[in-house]
Amino acid sequence: MPEFSEAFTGLAAKRKLSHNELVRAIRFMIAAEYEAIQLYEQLAESTDNELSRRILHNIAREEMEHVGEFRRLLSVLSPQDEPFYYHGVKETEEVLEEMGIPIPEAECCGEKSCGCSH
Ligand SMILES: [Fe+2]
Repeated sequence: MPEFSEAFTGLAAKRKLSHNELVRAIRFMIAAEYEAIQLYEQLAESTDNELSRRILHNIAREEMEHVGEFRRLLSVLSPQDEPFYYHGVKETEEVLEEMGIPIPEAECCGEKSCGCSH
């Protein structure tokens, strides 16, 4: 599990986070969401109990939505990071092109309850 820094302990009684501390905390939250996804999927793949498998996979997908929320929040709080992410995406896409692998487009899940415009 990610370890939380001193900035989280006793926070309400001491002081508010600085902007940079908040940005780092959001990065920690993203790591925690990915770790939760790993744990839920690993457990789902480790049991034959279908009910548990379905619930764990559903929760893992919800955690992916949380990743998206945190990533978007981070893009607002720390826009200077975005060019680095963009360059990383482009570097991977260059390798995909070199290997002749199609670049997948991001798509909505298609579920009626998701609330986005499909
Ligand atoms: Fe979450």
